Amino acid sequence: MTGNNIQLDKTGNLKHFLSIEGLNKPLLQTILDYAESFATVGERPIKKIPLLRGKTIANLFFEPSTRTRTTFELAAKRLSADILNLNISTMATSKGEILSDTLHTLEAMHCDMFVVRHANSGAAHYITSQVASHISVINAGDGRHEHPTQAMLDMFTIRQHKKDFTKLSVAIVGDVLHSRVARSDIHALNMLGVNEVRIIGPHTLIPKDIEKLGVHVYHDMDKGLENIDVVIMLRLQRERMKGALLPTENEYFQRYGLTSKRLKNAKPNVIVMHPGPINRGVEIDSNVADGEHSVILQQVSHGIAIRMAIMSMVMGRTSEDGEVKS
Ligand code: CP
Repeated sequence: MTGNNIQLDKTGNLKHFLSIEGLNKPLLQTILDYAESFATVGERPIKKIPLLRGKTIANLFFEPSTRTRTTFELAAKRLSADILNLNISTMATSKGEILSDTLHTLEAMHCDMFVVRHANSGAAHYITSQVASHISVINAGDGRHEHPTQAMLDMFTIRQHKKDFTKLSVAIVGDVLHSRVARSDIHALNMLGVNEVRIIGPHTLIPKDIEKLGVHVYHDMDKGLENIDVVIMLRLQRERMKGALLPTENEYFQRYGLTSKRLKNAKPNVIVMHPGPINRGVEIDSNVADGEHSVILQQVSHGIAIRMAIMSMVMGRTSEDGEVKS
C-alpha cells in the first residue's frame, strides 16, 4: 500500500478505483491520456482488443442504473473480458444472505474484479475490505459519497472541448447535497487545477461546509453563470431527500432550471453537461439539453473509453500488454 490509500498498490499504481479524493493529478492525467487510446475502438469494424482476455468481471448494481452499468459492460466486452451482470432482485441477498457471503461466493467463481453501485456511502470501501487481495473493486456510485468514473468521463469531455483546465470556470448547478457526482467532480476539477468552481443552488440543497472544498457558492443562477466555460447540471435526487427541501418542481425550474435565455449569461462557447438521467423541464429545458452547447451524449460515449482505461489499469494491464492502437 502507499500510505493508507487502499486504492494504490505499494508502487503507487491503481489497484482499486473507489474515490477521486486521495488520488493525485498525475494519476488523473494518466487515466485521461490512456482513455484517449481507447476512444476509437468503438468505431472499428471489430470493436474488441484482447487486453483483459481471460479476466472475469462481476457487475454488482444494488441500485438502478442505465448509463453506468451498460457502459461498464460494453467496456469489459471491448477489452475481451467475461462479464457477469448480477440481477440483485433475484440474488441470495434478497433471501437474507449477508453481503460478505455473496461476495465470497463470487470469489469462489474466480472473479477478478467487482464493479459496485450501492445506496450506502462507503459500500465500495467496505467491499474492498471484505474480498480476497487479488480482486480489484471499482466504485460505480456509493450513496452521496462519490461516483469517480463519472467524474473521469466528465474531465475527459471537458478536456476534449477546452484543453487547458487552468483557464476554466466551471459551474455545478442544483442538488449538490445529495450528489455523489458533484463531490467527485469538485475533487477532480481541483486536482486538475481549474481556475474556479462555482456551486449554484437553493440553500436547502447545498451542503453547509461545501466552501471547505475550495468552491464559491451562488444562490442566484444568473449571477452564478456569468462568464462560465462549463455548466454541469444535476438531477434533483428525490429518492435521497428526507422531508420537504424544495418548493414545487415548477418553482425550482423558474429559479434554477437551465434555459436558453439563462445560458446567455455564460461564455458564448460554454458547454452544457449532465450525468443523466435528465429531467426535462425540472433542471434543464429540452432546448438546452438537445441544443448546440450540449455535450450530454458525448459524455455517455466517453464513459466507455474511460471505463476501459480504469479497468485495464486496476488489472495492471497497459497498452504494451495488448493491441490498443489501430
Ligand atoms: N450517470 C449515471 O450514473 O447514470 P445511471 O444512473 O444511469 O448509471
